[in-house]
Amino acid sequence: MRIYLDHNATTPVRSEVADAMDRVLREVHGNPSSTHSEGSAAREALETARSRVALLLGTRPDRVLFTAGATEANNTALLGLLRRREQAPGHVVSTQVEHPSVEAALQVLESTGWRVTRLPVDSDGVVALTALADALCDDTALVSVLWANNETGVLQDLEAWSAIVREHGALLHVDATQGIGKLPIDLGSLSIDLLSLSAHKFNGPKGVGCLVVDPELGFEPILHGGPQEKGRRGGTENLAGIVGLGVACDLADKELDQRSLRYSMLRDRLWEGIRTRIDGVKRNGSTAALLPNTLNVEFEDTAGEVLLQALDLEGVAASAGAACHSGSIEPSHVLTAMGRTPESARGSLRLSVGFGTDEEQIDFVLDRLCELVPRVREAEGA
Ligand SMILES: Cc1ncc(COP(=O)(O)O)c(C=O)c1O
Repeated sequence: MRIYLDHNATTPVRSEVADAMDRVLREVHGNPSSTHSEGSAAREALETARSRVALLLGTRPDRVLFTAGATEANNTALLGLLRRREQAPGHVVSTQVEHPSVEAALQVLESTGWRVTRLPVDSDGVVALTALADALCDDTALVSVLWANNETGVLQDLEAWSAIVREHGALLHVDATQGIGKLPIDLGSLSIDLLSLSAHKFNGPKGVGCLVVDPELGFEPILHGGPQEKGRRGGTENLAGIVGLGVACDLADKELDQRSLRYSMLRDRLWEGIRTRIDGVKRNGSTAALLPNTLNVEFEDTAGEVLLQALDLEGVAASAGAACHSGSIEPSHVLTAMGRTPESARGSLRLSVGFGTDEEQIDFVLDRLCELVPRVREAEGA
C-alpha cells in the first residue's frame, strides 16, 4: 500500500478529469483557431473550460488567459506586465517566502534595474500589514504576494492586501496556486489585478494553468506567435489539458466546502497524533489562517531527509523542509525566513493531505512515525 501525503507537490488526476481529457483527445481533433466545424467544436470545448474557471473564481471568462501552469502565469504577470507598462524600471513589492517562479522573475527584474522590496514574515509566516503599507513608494508599480504558502500552508490576508494596494494605486498580483481548489475565492469582491493558478494542484493535469488578468491591462506576451488567447499568448492551445482544468474547477466549485472540512479533519487528526505520541515536535506556521490540508512539523534532532527516505520505504510519500543540492543540505528559505535555524528546517517535514486520503491512512502514517522518529534520532546520535 502506498500513502500519498504530498498533495502540495502535485495531486492525483480525478477520474472525471481524465475521462473528459480522454474524450477530447479521441474525438475533438480540430484546432480552436480553425473556422471549419472541427475547429468550432474545439473552440467550444476551450470556451466551456474558460467559463468553468471563471465561475470558480467569480470572474469574467474573458479575463482567463490559459498558460502552461503557474510558473508561466507568474512570469507573465511579473515580466510581461512590467516590461510593457513602465517606461523606466521602478519598484516592486513582494515577500521573502515566494515560490521560486516568482522569486526568479523578481531577480530578472532586478537585473534590468528594478528595485524589489521583499517583505519579511514573522515566526508564524505572516507578513505584517504595516510593513506592506510602509514599503509602498510613489513608483511602486506592482505588489506580488503568495496567498497560501506551498511549504507551510500559511495564508496572507488577501482582503487586507488588496485594500492597502488599491488605496495606494499599485497593481496586485496573487500567486493563488495552492489556495485554489481548497479554499473559496471571489474575485468579484476583491481588488486583485492578476492571479495565477495551476491545474495539477487540485486534481487536474500537469502543465496547464492560467493567469487571470483584465484584457485591458496591456502586457508583453512571454510567448510570441499566433493570435491565440487574443494575442496574449502565441501557440496552439493545450486543449485536452485546458478541458481537464475546466473539469477540475467544476469539481472544486461543487465540493469546496466538503473538501475543506474533510482535509482539515484529516490534517488535525495527524497533528493530534504526532503531538500526543511523539516527543520534541513543533508545528511550523500560524494555525490562525491556514490551508486546510497542510501540516508542517519539526521533529527536533532529526535528519528530515533520512526520515523521509525511511517513510518512503514504508510506503509513505511526504516532503522535507530542506533539499539536497549538489551534495549539501539547503534549508528551506520559507522556514529560515520564519526564523528557524538550518537544523530546525532540516528536521521539518511537510505532510499534505488531499483527494484519496482517509483516516486509516493517517493512523498508519502515525504508527510509522512513532517507530521511525526515535530510530532516526538514535542514528543521528541525539
Ligand atoms: C505556490 C506555487 N506557485 C507556483 C507553482 C508553480 O506551478 P507549476 O508547477 O504549474 O508551474 C507552484 C508549484 O509548485 C506553487 O506551489
